[in-house]
Amino acid sequence: MSTSSPSVPSKIRLRHLQLAKEQGRPFSMLTAYDQFSAKVFEEAGIETLLVGDSVGSTVLGHESTTATTHQDMLTFTAAVARSVTRPLIVADLAFGTYQTGPRDAVLHGIDLIRAGAEAVKLEGGTEMVPQIRALVQAGIPVIGHLGFTPQSVNSLSGHRVQGRDEETAQRLREDALAIQEAGVSAIVLELVPAAVAREITAALTVPTIGIGAGPDCDGQVLVWQDMAGLSGFHGKFVKAFADLRGELERAAAQYRTEVAERAYPGPEHSFE
Ligand code: KIV
Repeated sequence: MSTSSPSVPSKIRLRHLQLAKEQGRPFSMLTAYDQFSAKVFEEAGIETLLVGDSVGSTVLGHESTTATTHQDMLTFTAAVARSVTRPLIVADLAFGTYQTGPRDAVLHGIDLIRAGAEAVKLEGGTEMVPQIRALVQAGIPVIGHLGFTPQSVNSLSGHRVQGRDEETAQRLREDALAIQEAGVSAIVLELVPAAVAREITAALTVPTIGIGAGPDCDGQVLVWQDMAGLSGFHGKFVKAFADLRGELERAAAQYRTEVAERAYPGPEHSFE
């Protein structure tokens, strides 16, 4: 899906992710929550943008994604959807909007689609099969999310790699097959040993999208502020591809200095 080939689609759809898996071409997903980040990532050729419920911690200052509300998701999904045309836009169903049953999942899924999402993501395995079936029947594409599922941070006792022993790895395999059977279009695998993610990826017909799940997933996803070195989060699975934090701090400090010294604004920034 490189942007330089004439066969590049002008709009990324789920079938392009499926094709990428079938052709062995890894694709990229980044979180995006606002106009400028979304536009920059579109220009960089990122195939799919996730309006993650991580917005609660990365933008709104909450401790955990469980604090992110449905209204937050609608606001940020609409901002991203207004800003880009090419990437596939996936939005998270917020904590509490689908765990209560298939009807709630569909009603909240409809809201996200109306806000501009093209697929919704929910966390959980076999127990989410009724919700996934109901969403798919309502015409709403679903991305699953297995392994470390941040909305269950309390029951998982913190951010921990999942599937390290044979019993939990087997549960992950079963969950992946069950939600594929229920109709998900792709599955995010978070904090899963690379060997387990490789095996699940090979066993599934739908693409996997890894975050802390090794190199063999069909696609990769990162929270953009981690990818760009803004958050200062240095988890083992994160690579900071820039030092935005350093650059922003340098720019802000220089601005402050120039204001203090009356060097800014200069005549070129002032009106007659
Ligand atoms: O909300 C989010 O950013 C996510 C990613 C960690 C996959 O779900």
